[in-house]
Amino acid sequence: MQLTPPTTQPWLDPRQYWGSLTTATAALDTPFGAVSVPALAYNAHDMLRRASGTTIRVATKSVRVRGVVESVLALPGYSGVLAYTLAEGLWLAKTIPDVVIGYPTADRTAIAALAASPKLAKRVTLMVDSVHHLDLIDSVVAAGKREPIRVALELDASWRSRALGYLGVFRSPVRTVAQARALARTIVERKGFELVGMMAYEAQVAGVVNRPPGKPVLARTVDYVQKHSTEELRERRGAVAAALRELTELEFVNGGGTGSLERTAADPSVTEIAAGSGLFGPHLFDSYSHFTPAPAAAFALSVVRKPQPTVATLHGGGWVASGPPGPDRMPKLAWPEGLQYLPREMAGEVQSPVKGRAAAALEVGDRVWLRHTKAGELSEHLLEFALVDGDAIVETMPTYRGEGKAFL
Ligand SMILES: Cc1ncc(COP(=O)(O)O)c(C=O)c1O
Repeated sequence: MQLTPPTTQPWLDPRQYWGSLTTATAALDTPFGAVSVPALAYNAHDMLRRASGTTIRVATKSVRVRGVVESVLALPGYSGVLAYTLAEGLWLAKTIPDVVIGYPTADRTAIAALAASPKLAKRVTLMVDSVHHLDLIDSVVAAGKREPIRVALELDASWRSRALGYLGVFRSPVRTVAQARALARTIVERKGFELVGMMAYEAQVAGVVNRPPGKPVLARTVDYVQKHSTEELRERRGAVAAALRELTELEFVNGGGTGSLERTAADPSVTEIAAGSGLFGPHLFDSYSHFTPAPAAAFALSVVRKPQPTVATLHGGGWVASGPPGPDRMPKLAWPEGLQYLPREMAGEVQSPVKGRAAAALEVGDRVWLRHTKAGELSEHLLEFALVDGDAIVETMPTYRGEGKAFL
């Protein structure tokens, strides 16, 4: 698949956009997933624009389709992947030469496979934030009996606010320059390891929408948090990177995500940004002030019954996203416009009744388009995506699931 920047943005006219997707996929039985090639291309290029020259490492958890990851990596400006499990990373490393595992691993089988392969050991970097991670690797294969293992040190990127408390996600216990230096020194001095990079992912900036609909006070609070957190991290990430560079050469300093491309790129210590969600443009990413991804990935369900003239029942729907449970974790009813779930049923395991303006006109056999809350999780429900351009399917690509892989 070639991701050429599109000259028009058909998704800005929902009737045309969803109409074309419906026409192109008319012969497919539901449920099925579709990706608009021009929308994906638009998103991929818009992310590059927003990163203004900083390399983007593709966060594969937010895609989970090998063909899509490879097509994006073919664009100048993208390089390497941030994988989400070591088993996945080893699989991808067969064809992708630069794989960073974004999260620590306790997968002993995969560690043994990594340690035994000179090729994989050159291509794959593990994430560590504690001596325990080094000990675990050594307990699988002793340092003298294996390839040196490439590791990156993860720094806590949360923001501690006097007024608002702990903002961000709980990841690494390594927060200060002194803590980072101490762990880095241990790694550098320890046989069997190479410290090649560091990562600090500011989830509270990258993954929290700053224009939540109907919540202006929250929006102002998020703006405040994101501004101050960015300033605090710029100092600390820069100082840690400098301290680590005194001990060893770092190949990369990774930060950010789809929501923070501009801000993370403006941090001079960052050499690359990991991002993926913006490619598919799931609906969690609809409410940022500074970018609007095209709704590139969607899935279609069929109307299978009409319990009442104004209610249509979809076959399926409950592909609910991870994270704090709430209405925003439901797939968004994208087309036709004006459909709503019933509050007492919401998106069901097998059936999702919907009401609203358009429901009365829906007949058995009609299709409804939905967008998942998150990007990569949709791929876990599908064996493949139909890639659509204009009114036609141009290619079909297997998801990880379709390739028989279920990593997490
Ligand atoms: C370490 C890390 N970097 C970057 C990201 C950003 O990914 P995305 O662009 O899909 O939001 C994530 C997502 O959770 C992450 O865990």
